[in-house]
Amino acid sequence: MLVRVPTRERLIRRAGPGDAGAIGAIYDEAIATGVATFAIGPHDQAERTDWLAARGERAPVWVLDDAGDVIGWGALAPFSHREWYDGVAEYTVYISATAQGTGAGGQMLDHLIGTAPDLGYWKLVGMILEGNAAGLALARGRGFREVGTHHAHGHVEGAWRDVTVVELHLEQAR
Ligand SMILES: CC(C)(COP(=O)(O)OP(=O)(O)OC[C@H]1O[C@@H](n2cnc3c(N)ncnc32)[C@H](O)[C@@H]1OP(=O)(O)O)[C@@H](O)C(=O)NCCC(=O)NCCS
Repeated sequence: MLVRVPTRERLIRRAGPGDAGAIGAIYDEAIATGVATFAIGPHDQAERTDWLAARGERAPVWVLDDAGDVIGWGALAPFSHREWYDGVAEYTVYISATAQGTGAGGQMLDHLIGTAPDLGYWKLVGMILEGNAAGLALARGRGFREVGTHHAHGHVEGAWRDVTVVELHLEQAR
């Protein structure tokens, strides 16, 4: 198996308006795989910029910056609008195809796990589409447990897809 080794320092920083294009391009790339998300693409520049600008304080987006190139992004968002689920966030990690398999996804998910308590979250939940082996491996490797599988939870290009729910309780996992 080919193992790509990062050769430059990678930094995680909060996404700014200038990152909208790179974030959107990585997202569109993942949409095209059919196993990453139910979202439909591609998105134009205005949609990407509006999406980023509309994120609230508790729904931050970070980018993984490799010497000036954005090679991935990660985000948190409230799991529910109900106040009693205030401490539960859904996480998202997207890495560009050329940077996958180099530890980038792990670096970003570690950052989300480390930052979430500062935003008042006590649990992270992930929704992994059927066939997304990398997404499941990433979560398992960080100690997420599989809650169960929603059957035919959505569809990609007309085909029903299951979704496996994973969770990590940030206080109990310590
Ligand atoms: C899922 C994703 C974020 C993983 O990022 P990555 O940079 O390739 O992952 P890493 O190199 O950090 O590897 C993380 C773990 O996944 C495993 N892994 C990576 N690719 C894999 C694959 N194709 N199949 C099985 N396991 C895989 C690695 O061995 C590693 O395991 P470990 O933690 O036990 O060592 C990336 O594939 C991606 O962006 N996919 C599209 C978007 C997506 O599906 N996001 C997940 C849902 S939010």
